[in-house]
Amino acid sequence: MSNVFLSLKDIRKSFGGVHALNGVDLEIRRGEIHCLAGENGSGKSTLIKIISGIYKPDKGQILIEGDPVQSLTPKSSIDAGIQVIYQDFAIFPNLSVAENISINHSVLTGAKRMNWTEARSLAAEAMSRIGADLDPEVLVENLSVANKQMVAICRAIINDAKLLILDEPTASLTAKEVDALNEIIKNLRNKNMAIMIVNHKIDEIFNIAEQITVLRNGEKISSGPASGYTRRSFIRDLTGREITETTYEPEKSDEEIFRVEKLTRHGEFSDISFEIRKGDVLGITGLLGSGRGAVGDALFGVAPATEGKIFLNGEEIEIRSIDDAIKYKIGYVPEDRLTQGLFLNRSIQENTTAASLKKYFIRGKVDEKIMLNDTIEWIRTIGCNAKDAEAPIRTLSGGNAQKMVIAKWLNTSPRILILNGPTVGVDIGAKADIHRFLHGLAKDGVGIIIISDDLAELIQNCNRIIVMHDGKAVRTVDTKDVDETSLSKMLSD
Ligand SMILES: Nc1ncnc2c1ncn2[C@@H]1O[C@H](COP(=O)(O)OP(=O)(O)OP(=O)(O)O)[C@@H](O)[C@H]1O
Ligand SMILES: [Mg+2]
Repeated sequence: MSNVFLSLKDIRKSFGGVHALNGVDLEIRRGEIHCLAGENGSGKSTLIKIISGIYKPDKGQILIEGDPVQSLTPKSSIDAGIQVIYQDFAIFPNLSVAENISINHSVLTGAKRMNWTEARSLAAEAMSRIGADLDPEVLVENLSVANKQMVAICRAIINDAKLLILDEPTASLTAKEVDALNEIIKNLRNKNMAIMIVNHKIDEIFNIAEQITVLRNGEKISSGPASGYTRRSFIRDLTGREITETTYEPEKSDEEIFRVEKLTRHGEFSDISFEIRKGDVLGITGLLGSGRGAVGDALFGVAPATEGKIFLNGEEIEIRSIDDAIKYKIGYVPEDRLTQGLFLNRSIQENTTAASLKKYFIRGKVDEKIMLNDTIEWIRTIGCNAKDAEAPIRTLSGGNAQKMVIAKWLNTSPRILILNGPTVGVDIGAKADIHRFLHGLAKDGVGIIIISDDLAELIQNCNRIIVMHDGKAVRTVDTKDVDETSLSKMLSD
């Protein structure tokens, strides 16, 4: 077909013994929104890096507008009109909006200094094309995630992009922001751009995708119009198995595990009170900036509370530091785990055991063998797709790295486990596994707190949900009494 922009044939790429891509064919057309789907580690990011010239395929052919390309480099990929927006957006926080938008342009045109008039007019033009309205002078570090993404999209489109690739663009956006982004994407598609999106959220995929390609274990399982997929067939293609998500229902218990009274951190949140009984999974939700994350940070001692009381099994405790939290066996899966949760250059084993080193000191020596065995056991239990426990953790795909952050805290045998966005970027099969795992922990008496804006996830896994607004708990609801629509209304009321 004539409007095929990019076509890949029999692409292969291995890392050591791992076949990340095992003969993948793909066609991307102009004027079409193509969703690239696949479980964690299925090869999506590797494929994107090949398209953008970062990795050289071991084998295979790349054609751009019908012409075979000998070897793609990052520069020749951009010259051909391919633009990728990665999850971190690769923006410069201490430069302004206008500078960020025009920076590649000035680099490509060989300009030595930023031409301010030009930068501003480029920024204005790009913003008007996607209907964004940001102050060109403002520093990007002061923008919300959604607006940072706008800047990244503006920068991508000013270079005459023909194919725009977005790797998990909605991972940290609110529902409203997702709608706004979808509008922009549809607009660009209407202007004959080809769009490729990686996303793990099935509802969002069915909402926007016109074409779908599913990868599994480095192979293309299926490809075709979105209308040809049902939810069920899509999930089967993704996972190769039937996924059953179970809704959590705790048994009633009066045994109190954890309680906080009027917890306050000045300027962040105030008067938060709740209790967790045996079997409870408590949800905390709210819009970005509602203070939901700050409560987690306080309970883990990252940014401790300034007032209020905390009780563990009926006894008052003080959490002034992370060490305090660890001492009381509180575990925390942070929101920004790439920087807060992992030592990227260290091995999977070092990461998995990092929060529980004490238990490996036997007669004054570290027992590496037990460490390794525990790590291998966790890799299996949590379903991480890792071949070698001693490989650097950065060689894992995003979702698999995330599972290991959870394993790291499970390895401490926590009494309280706080998870901030526990399954952001995790595929649906793994998501169901992690959820079932959390249900089991809760039944065994671990107090679980899930902080999230994924309302479906909260409803499915929590028996009570606290809704925060401007640093205050405005509602505490029994999950049985709400659905996604009513809960979503409470967030913005
Ligand atoms: N630089 C690397 N060195 C070694 N192995 C790698 C490297 N990059 C990727 N891999 C492996 O290749 C496979 C595919 O990884 P990739 O990052 O493409 O997956 P993905 O589909 O993007 O997953 P996710 O949804 O978790 O982001 C995985 O098994 C991963 O561990
Ligand atoms: Mg990836």
